[in-house]
Amino acid sequence: MSDRYRDFTSTPVGRVLVKNMGLPNPARLERYDEGAPLVSGTVAVGGQGRLVDALPDVLGVLGIQTAADPDPDQTYKGLVFDATGLTSSDQLVALRDFFTPLLRSLETNPRVVVLGTPPEQLKGSERVAQRALEGFTRSLGKEIGRGGTVQLVYVAEGAEGATTSTLGFLLSPKSAYVSGQVVRIGAHGATVAGEVADWTRPLAGRIALVTGASRGIGEQIARVLHRDGATVVGVDVPQAASDLQSVMKEIDGDWLALDITAKDAPQRIAHHLQEKHGGVDVVVHNAGITRDKKLANMAEDRWDSVIAVNLTAPERITRELLDQGVIHDNGSIIGVASIAGIAGNVGQTNYAASKAGVIGFVDSLADDLDRGITVNAVAPGFIVTQMTAAVPFATREVGQRLNAMAQGGLPVDVAETIAWYASPASTAVNGNVVRVCGQMMLGA
Ligand SMILES: NC(=O)c1ccc[n+]([C@@H]2O[C@H](COP(=O)([O-])OP(=O)(O)OC[C@H]3O[C@@H](n4cnc5c(N)ncnc54)[C@H](O)[C@@H]3O)[C@@H](O)[C@H]2O)c1
Repeated sequence: MSDRYRDFTSTPVGRVLVKNMGLPNPARLERYDEGAPLVSGTVAVGGQGRLVDALPDVLGVLGIQTAADPDPDQTYKGLVFDATGLTSSDQLVALRDFFTPLLRSLETNPRVVVLGTPPEQLKGSERVAQRALEGFTRSLGKEIGRGGTVQLVYVAEGAEGATTSTLGFLLSPKSAYVSGQVVRIGAHGATVAGEVADWTRPLAGRIALVTGASRGIGEQIARVLHRDGATVVGVDVPQAASDLQSVMKEIDGDWLALDITAKDAPQRIAHHLQEKHGGVDVVVHNAGITRDKKLANMAEDRWDSVIAVNLTAPERITRELLDQGVIHDNGSIIGVASIAGIAGNVGQTNYAASKAGVIGFVDSLADDLDRGITVNAVAPGFIVTQMTAAVPFATREVGQRLNAMAQGGLPVDVAETIAWYASPASTAVNGNVVRVCGQMMLGA
C-alpha cells in the first residue's frame, strides 16, 4: 500500500515544506529481499567487555563484514558496541567516545546495537551502569533518522554463544520497523543456541502452526516462515477457508478450517498436528479481532468474543499442545500482542485487556517451559493492513506519524520478527515482548 504523504515529502516542494515547517520526514525503509546478503555494507564493532572479541566471527557466520577499528572517514551500515564491560556511571562516556565520531559515517537505514548484561543479574554500580544503557539506546533511536534503528540487547552471563540469530535480525533490513527495543538473551531458561545448518533456511524441516493465516499479518507470517524453510499449517475460520486454501497451496502448506474458540479446537489442532505432521515446532497465535466500544457502551458479546479469540484460545491451545507433548524440543510459542496492550486505547478496554493478557501469557510460561521450548510475543504498532486502511483519514495520518519512522509498518515487519523468534538458533531468546512499532511515542 502506498504512503502518499511519504511520496510527497520526496518531491522538491515536499522537501522544502518538511524542512521549513519541521514536518515529519519518513525515510524509505529497506526491507529484506530473499537471496540478498543479510547486510549490504560493513558493521563497525567496538567497546569493551565479554562479547566484543567474538563479534567478527559471530557476524562472519552470517556473511556480515566487520571493521574492528572503525575509521570515521569510512562509511558503515551498522555499529555494534559491547557495553558489558561498563561497571560504573563514569564509564558510560565510552558510549559517547565510540558513537559520536561515527554517527556521521552511517549509510541510510543504519543499524545500531548496544550489548549489555541484564541489570537484574547485577548489583550496585554495575547494575546502575547497565540500566543506564536503556535511556541511551531509546534516545538515539529517536535521533538517528534516515530509517535507522537502535536496540539494546542484554546478554546473560553464559549466553555469549547464543547471540547470532538476534544480531542477524537486528542488523539486517528484516528489523526495518523495530527500534528502541530491549531484548534479553539467556535471561530465562536456556543460555545456549540450537543448531542451524543453513542460515538462509533456518526453519528447514520445521512445522509451523499459524492461526488467522488467510490474510493480513497472518498470511505474511505464513509466507515468511515458508521462505525460511518451514512447512506451514494455516488455521482460519470456516468462512475464510477458500482464501486460506489458496494461500497455503501457494506455499506448499497444509490447512485446517476451524474457529479457534470452539470447545474442541485445541484437541482438533493437536490431533491434526500429531497425526499428519508428527508434532509441531513453531506455534504462532496470530488470529485476533477487535470489537471497539467505550466501556460505558460495551455489550457483553463484544467483551466476550475479543477475550475468547485473542487470549483464552491461545492459552487453551498452548496448554493442550504442551500437555499432549505435541510441541517438539526447542519449539517456539509466539503470541501477537499489541501496542494497545501496553499503552491502552480509547474504545479498546476489551482488546487492550486481551493483548496485555498475551504479555502476561509470555511472563507466566517463560520460566516454566522445558526441553528448550520458548515463549515470546510481538507487540505491533500501526501496521498498514486492510483493517487500518478503513480508519478515517485524519486518525490514520496521526496514528502512523507518531513514531520515530514517521510511517506505518508492513505485515512483513511483524512476520520477520516472528521468524527470528522461531529460529532454532533463538533457543536462548525467551520471555521477550518486542514492539514492532517504529518506536511509537505511545506507551514508550
Ligand atoms: N493491523 C494492525 O495494525 C495490528 C496492530 C496490533 C496488533 N495486531 C494483531 O495482529 C493480528 C493480525 O491482525 P490483522 O491486522 O492481520 O487482522 P485481520 O483481521 O486482517 O486478520 C485476522 C485473521 O484472524 C482470523 N480469525 C479471527 N477470529 C478467528 C477465530 N475465532 N478462529 C480462527 N481464525 C480467526 C480472521 O479470519 C483473519 O483471517 C491480530 O492478533 C491483531 O490483533 C494488528
